[in-house]
Amino acid sequence: MENKVKDKTLAKEGLKKIDWIKDKMAVLNKIKDEYCQEQPLFNKVVSICLHLEAKTAYMAIILKELGAEVYITGSNPLSTQNDVAAALLEYGVNVYSWRGETEKEYNESLDKILDAKPDFIIDDGGDLVTKIHNDRPELINKIIGGAEETTTGVVRLKALDDSNMLKFPMMSVNDANSKYLFDNRYGTGQSVWDAIMRNTNLVVAGKNVVVAGYGWCGKGVAKRANGLGAKVIITEVDPFKAIEAKMDGFRIMTMDDASQIGDIFITVTGCKDVINKKHFKKMKDGAILANAGHFNVEINIDDLDSLATEIKEVRKNIKSYDINNKNLYLMAQGRLVNLAAGDGHPAEIMDMSFGLQVLSLLYLSENDLLPGLYKVPDLIDEKVARYWLEANNIVIDQLSSEQIDYLMNWEL
Ligand code: ADE
Repeated sequence: MENKVKDKTLAKEGLKKIDWIKDKMAVLNKIKDEYCQEQPLFNKVVSICLHLEAKTAYMAIILKELGAEVYITGSNPLSTQNDVAAALLEYGVNVYSWRGETEKEYNESLDKILDAKPDFIIDDGGDLVTKIHNDRPELINKIIGGAEETTTGVVRLKALDDSNMLKFPMMSVNDANSKYLFDNRYGTGQSVWDAIMRNTNLVVAGKNVVVAGYGWCGKGVAKRANGLGAKVIITEVDPFKAIEAKMDGFRIMTMDDASQIGDIFITVTGCKDVINKKHFKKMKDGAILANAGHFNVEINIDDLDSLATEIKEVRKNIKSYDINNKNLYLMAQGRLVNLAAGDGHPAEIMDMSFGLQVLSLLYLSENDLLPGLYKVPDLIDEKVARYWLEANNIVIDQLSSEQIDYLMNWEL
């Protein structure tokens, strides 16, 4: 099969990006050292749909070093870094992805990596699983299992599994402790602000920042906004999360109220139409809109288009919408801002998420699981956390046998 990337001559820059993060992904390196010799994925095909940037590329390289034949595409039409995609070819990974794919091209790339007839899949957001179930059911018999990276994908998988329609085992990497506690919270917290600041070059301190959604990602975005000196407002639909946000020191409002005073809006809900026509009408001149959720549905772009008398690109990754003589600024076309206009989460954090991905595939290869959605086993979750601590030279206490007895015994 022919690979398809934007421009193979970009490889040099991509190789530098991969080289930079290589030794910062200590968990992946430990997994490589532990398993490389036994080649546990020898002769196995792994098809990956993930945001294609340097850290992802490095995981694909490790899977190859564990014996797999690897095929990869991006999990969002705007998040693939063309130089990294080109560089990955030099490592012998099969790539079908470029930044700016149309919906049709995005779909074709998914098909391409499935044409390889995978034994394992890695998905981010559920598009690969959905395609296999809807359009490529002939592949199901060969698939041993897969792993899902993100909250949105797990929500889709749960719906599929609840209706007994999930046809192979999928590991919910997103729900492992060593994933969501760090990737969703600190990863999103840092990468979203990195993307907003590097693209706008504006001050955050003193601004009213509205964060829609106080899940693990929203918590991270709000915490970092607070650290940057913003006045943070949370909007929520979940009463418990709203109380949590209140007790974390934030103001809680409806989007109706927040839309009148916000300077920067960030959606992290996983739901659609969170900011829509009625909110755009109330917003102040100059308000900045960014989405950090998986799909570009949280900010209603059709509504923005229909209200605007003029739309223009004012800076890379920022479009202005002229609405009744005020300008609203939309970042990265409403695609997830940290990847479409940034480099994604920091390497040391993706290291844990991708360590879980690789160990999940190894677990699937060693255990014959029935179709369904599975939690990552605690042993794997803890192994990743311990590897990470070790790599950072952090030693923690151990329970004595008397303490273990004490904890296990109800008769004190
Ligand atoms: N890099 C690769 N995948 C990512 C993800 N899901 N979130 C943030 N950064 C990433």
